[in-house]
Amino acid sequence: MTASKPAPKAPPRPLSRTRDHQVGLPARRAATNLLDAVLQKKQPLDDVLGRAQDGGYMFDLPARDRALARAIVGTSLRRRGQLDAVLNSFLERGLPAKAGTLYPILLSGAAQLLFMNVPAHAALDLAVRLAQWDPKAKRYDKLVNAVLRRVADKGTEILSKLNAPRVNTPDWLWDRWVRAWGKERALEIAASHLVEAPLDLTVKSDPEGWAERLEGRVLPSGSVRLLPKGRIEELPGFSEGGWWVQDVAASLPAKMLGDLAGKRVADLCAAPGGKTAQLLLAGATVVAVDSSPTRLKLLEQNLKRLGLAAETIQADAATWQPEERFDAILLDAPCSSTGTIRRHPDIPYLKSDKDIAELAGLQARLLDNAVSLLKPGGTLVYSTCSLEPEEGEAQVAALMARNPAIRIDPLRPDEPFGDTEWAQASGILRTFPFQFQLDSPEWSGMDGFFAARLTREG
Ligand SMILES: C[S@@+](CC[C@H](N)C(=O)[O-])C[C@H]1O[C@@H](n2cnc3c(N)ncnc32)[C@H](O)[C@@H]1O
Repeated sequence: MTASKPAPKAPPRPLSRTRDHQVGLPARRAATNLLDAVLQKKQPLDDVLGRAQDGGYMFDLPARDRALARAIVGTSLRRRGQLDAVLNSFLERGLPAKAGTLYPILLSGAAQLLFMNVPAHAALDLAVRLAQWDPKAKRYDKLVNAVLRRVADKGTEILSKLNAPRVNTPDWLWDRWVRAWGKERALEIAASHLVEAPLDLTVKSDPEGWAERLEGRVLPSGSVRLLPKGRIEELPGFSEGGWWVQDVAASLPAKMLGDLAGKRVADLCAAPGGKTAQLLLAGATVVAVDSSPTRLKLLEQNLKRLGLAAETIQADAATWQPEERFDAILLDAPCSSTGTIRRHPDIPYLKSDKDIAELAGLQARLLDNAVSLLKPGGTLVYSTCSLEPEEGEAQVAALMARNPAIRIDPLRPDEPFGDTEWAQASGILRTFPFQFQLDSPEWSGMDGFFAARLTREG
């Protein structure tokens, strides 16, 4: 008997719009590509999602698939430590090098199996097909099948032995937070990152009315909180400029400048303009400065949508010297953004200690220049959406040491968060992502923010 020649392997069939959309392959492919971009190519998630609109990873996906891809990416990043621990226990020889998208395929496959209730046969089949599509990963299609099968069988048992908040926090951040805030608070911070943040809006007026139209809740500071669903641009009130997206914590620094009627205010790192809009609504004449032309354009579009207007200037706020000084200044400085990890779960994998040191240097230069632009008796609010003391408390202490004319103007007990022990002791605003607990985790939390109100005496 002659051995028959093995049949040549069929090439992967082209994507069929109807059939593949039904089984969800395009959503998984987008999720894999997004994870590859963030974790292997170190690109910020917002940048690659943004590019998606002009033909990138999510281009042409129906809304349901886009939502699924985002959910897979979010879960894979939030739970990366747990997922890695499970995968590593089945990858006896570790991950092969130069294997293309193999790692994102395994990570997102395990995320679907262990945290998203996706039936095992669907998650496995789709993961194997994704591997077969990638020329660098296709020789590992059997490995994908074998590893994910074991994840489906034994993964939950391995998970039960892990401390989820701790293992999902990379060591560099964990060590920082234990040093800065102690172990108990570090655990609370880390636990808050496991749940996606709600969507907070700052409304121009009538918070109760907007809360009713959008099925949200009014928070004590006047923000309206919703559970995220669908595209923000399609929500009622977006195109008519009734509100803008702004975490409740991010709305507090501009409020610390109080009534600004008739005052000239500089917003020194202004784009995309959430705080500029608040300053304008508080009655100020605003000069909005930002060094990024693209972001300044975004600020102009946002203000136009809201029916508001400010003078905009593209400049480096660390050296900018206009002719006239200001009654008040808001410096919402560029920072590591570690207070926003609930919304940006890619941050732990893109930022490092080195970035924080560099940003702290820039913040000090921005603060020194801001002080030079302030009229005697004027007020400066300095804020960052960071949990790192180098970008907050230490920055203000160093500024006051360099400049004896600068004093902290303490938060008053009648201001938001002014009655907290923290504000009573230090006069400054410091929020954490685990604060602001409502009745369920998905309605709870706020960005981690720092803000200090400073006055210049001479
Ligand atoms: C935290 S964001 C500001 C957010 C904004 N205040 C808001 O509420 O919408 C920091 C901004 O600082 C800008 N930036 C970074 N370095 C700068 C510099 N040297 N001078 C002026 N703007 C700068 C960035 O382009 C970015 O838009």
